[in-house]
Amino acid sequence: MAIQLLTLGLFLVAGAVAETAATYDYIVVGSGPGGAPLAANLAKAGYPTLLLEAGDDLGNNKNYSEMANFNLAANDDKSRWDFFVKHSSDEERESKYEHMTWRKPDGSFYVGLEPPEGSEQLGIYYPRSATLGGCAMHNGGVCALPSDDDWDAIAESTGDKSWLAKNMRQYFERIETAHYVPPGTPGHGYSGYVNVTISDPTFMQQTSDIQEIASGIIKTVGGDVTRDINSLDADRDQQTGVFGLAGHADPNGHRTGSNTYVRATLDDPAKYPLTVQLQSLVTKVLFSKNAKTPTAIGVEVLRGQSLYKADPRYNGAKGEVVKIFANKEVIVSGGTFNTPQILKLSGIGPAKELKKFDIPVVKDLPGVGERLADNYEGGLLALASKPLNGSSGPFAVQLKTPTARKNRNIYGWCKSFSFEGFWPGFPTEYGPSQYECAFVHMNPRSQAGYVHLRSDDPQEPPEINFEFFKHGGDEDLTEMLDAAKTFRKAITSAGEPIGPFNEKHPCPGVKQNCTDAAQKEFLKLQTYSHHAASTCGIGPAHDKLAVLDSKFRVHGVKNLRVVDASAFPAVPGAFPVCPVFMLAEKATDDILRDAKSASSSA
Ligand SMILES: Cc1cc2nc3c(=O)[nH]c(=O)nc-3n(C[C@H](O)[C@H](O)[C@H](O)COP(=O)(O)OP(=O)(O)OC[C@H]3O[C@@H](n4cnc5c(N)ncnc54)[C@H](O)[C@@H]3O)c2cc1C
Ligand SMILES: *[C@@H]1O[C@H](CO)[C@@H](O)[C@H](O)[C@H]1NC(C)=O
Ligand SMILES: *[C@@H]1O[C@H](CO)[C@@H](O)[C@H](O)[C@H]1NC(C)=O
Ligand SMILES: *[C@@H]1O[C@H](CO)[C@@H](O)[C@H](O)[C@H]1NC(C)=O
Ligand SMILES: *[C@@H]1O[C@H](CO)[C@@H](O)[C@H](O)[C@H]1NC(C)=O
Repeated sequence: MAIQLLTLGLFLVAGAVAETAATYDYIVVGSGPGGAPLAANLAKAGYPTLLLEAGDDLGNNKNYSEMANFNLAANDDKSRWDFFVKHSSDEERESKYEHMTWRKPDGSFYVGLEPPEGSEQLGIYYPRSATLGGCAMHNGGVCALPSDDDWDAIAESTGDKSWLAKNMRQYFERIETAHYVPPGTPGHGYSGYVNVTISDPTFMQQTSDIQEIASGIIKTVGGDVTRDINSLDADRDQQTGVFGLAGHADPNGHRTGSNTYVRATLDDPAKYPLTVQLQSLVTKVLFSKNAKTPTAIGVEVLRGQSLYKADPRYNGAKGEVVKIFANKEVIVSGGTFNTPQILKLSGIGPAKELKKFDIPVVKDLPGVGERLADNYEGGLLALASKPLNGSSGPFAVQLKTPTARKNRNIYGWCKSFSFEGFWPGFPTEYGPSQYECAFVHMNPRSQAGYVHLRSDDPQEPPEINFEFFKHGGDEDLTEMLDAAKTFRKAITSAGEPIGPFNEKHPCPGVKQNCTDAAQKEFLKLQTYSHHAASTCGIGPAHDKLAVLDSKFRVHGVKNLRVVDASAFPAVPGAFPVCPVFMLAEKATDDILRDAKSASSSA
C-alpha cells in the first residue's frame, strides 16, 4: 500500500512541476530520523509537506525490515553511500589504520596495509544509508538517552530553557512505545512510532558458556540484563554496570522508526497532505531575489537513481533538474555530512571556502561544516579456549572510569561477536570462540573535525576529516584504556574450560604483556566511529561557529532550518538516533508554533 502511494506521489508531482507557484508549505530535505518524522508530523498537523529523499524505499526488504540483518543492510549497495574519511591530518598515523581502504586498478576495493601496486588510497570507510528512513535503516538500532547534562548544556549556551533535560524527556515519551518496562513506568511512552525492546534476556536462564561469561561480567561490574538504561532515575547518569540493550525494534524483531512512521502516515485513511519523492538529490536551497534578509523559497533537485558519487551504483548520470517551491519553510535534514554540503552549495557557509568554488555568498557563516565530532570506539575482543555454546545474548554495560569528568563515560555491549569498525564487507568473523565487549566513549573532548567542499559539483561527496584526539586526546584515551582493562577483567573472570582467553586487541596474546602506552597507541590508531554530529551546531549568535539558533533556524536566514544530527552542538551521549528522533519532535513544536503565530498575525 505504502509503495503504491509513494509511486503515485512521485508520478503526480513529476507531472506537475511548478517553477513559480508553491505546491507545499514545507519542504523537508532528507528522510533520516531528523527529516522523516518531522515531515510526517507537519503533514499530520494539516500543512502540505514534501519529503525529498535521494534514495529508494527499501522498507519491505528484509535486509532493512529485520533488525537482526543490520550488517547485511550496511553492506547492501541498494542503500549504500560510501564515504571515505580521514581520522587526522597526520599521513603516517592514517597509514597505520588496519582497515584502510584502497581502490585496486581493477576497480574493486582492497582493505589493509599492503595494497597491490597501482592502488589508490580512498581513506577510512564510513557508511551512510541513502534510503527512505536514512541511517536508521542500517544502524544497530541501539536507543540510548544522553546524559541530562548534554541537554542542559544547550539550554545554558542559548538561554533557551526548553532544552533542559527535564523538558526534553516529553519528546522521548512521545516517540516511544516501550515494550520492556511495566506499563505506566514514568519517563517512558506507550504510543509512539518507535517501538523499543531489549535484547532477549532469557539466555541468562540457560546453562551455557555465554551465560557463564555474562555472569562473570555481572559479578565484576554489577547490574543485570533487564535493567532499564533509559530510566527516569535522578541518578541515571551515574548508574553503571550491566543493563538491557534497548533498541528500536518491535517484539517481532522488526525495525521501527523513520521509515515505518512515514509509511504509516501515507497509509493513514485520514489522507494527510504528505508527499514523498524518492530518487531526488537536493543540490541547493533557493532564495528570494528581492528580500533584504536571505529568505529560503524552495530547492533545486536532481531527479534520478544513484546520482551521488558515493553511491556504488553511480554511473555518470546527471539527472533532471527540477525546482520546487515552499510557501513557508525549507528544512534541511541531510545528516552530518550532507547538510553542510547542501548549505554550502546554496551559498551559506564560510565565505572564503565558497569563493574558492565561485559560489555566490548568500550568508557568511564560518561554522557550517566545522566542529565535526564523533564518539570514539574500541573493543576488547578475545577468543575463548573452546567454541562458546548458548545464544549470544547481547547486553549493555555502562562504565564510569576513574578519570571520568562527571557522568558515566563508556557505553559497551557484549556478546559472542566481532566488531572492529567499518570497511567494505565488514565485519570480521573469528568463529564460535569469539567474544567481545565493544564500547563507545562518550563526550569526546575534541571537536576539531570538518566537512569541506571538494568542488561545487553537488554529485561529488565532500572532504571529511575528523581530526580525532586533537584536543584532550590523552585524557580520552586514558578513559578508553581504563574501559578496556575493566572489560578484560570482566570477560576473563570466566575460568577454565572457557578460559584462558587469547586476546585479539588491544593487547594481543594469552598472557597480557603490554604497556599502557602501547594499548593507548593501539586505541588511538585503530579507533573507529559511526555517530558523527555537530557540523551545523546550535548556539548563540555571538558564537562565531554557531550555525543555528535554539529553534533550529539558520542564523541570519529566514525560512530555513536544519533538523538532524548536525544540529547538536556536541555529540549527544553514546548513541544519537533516539536523540535525533527527539529533535524532530521538538522541531515540530517550534515550527508549528511559528506557523500558528504567523497565521494569527496575518
Ligand atoms: C552503520 C551505522 C550504525 C549505527 N548504529 C547506531 C545505533 O545502533 N544507535 C544509534 O543511536 N545510532 C546509530 N548510528 C547513527 C545513527 O543512525 C545516525 O546518527 C542517525 O541516523 C542520524 O540521523 P540524521 O537524520 O541526522 O541523518 P541520516 O540518518 O544520515 O539521514 C539523512 C538522509 O538524508 C538523505 N540525503 C542526504 N543528502 C541528501 C540530498 N542532497 N538530497 C536528498 N536527500 C539527501 C540521505 O539519503 C538520508 O536518507 C549508526 C550509524 C551507522 C552508519
Ligand atoms: C542484502 O544485502 C546483501 C549485502 O549485504 C545483498 O547481497 C543481498 O542481495 C541483500 N538482500 C536483499 C533481499 O536485498
Ligand atoms: C508498535 O507500537 C505501536 C504504537 O504503540 C503499536 O500499535 C504496535 O502494536 C507495536 N507493535 C508491536 C509489534 O507490538
Ligand atoms: C553447553 O555445554 C555445556 C557443557 O557441555 C552443557 O552442560 C550445556 O547444556 C550446553 N548449553 C547449551 C545451551 O547448549
Ligand atoms: C613482555 O615479556 C617479555 C618476555 O616474556 C619481556 O622481556 C618484556 O619486557 C615484556 N614487556 C613488557 C612491556 O612488559
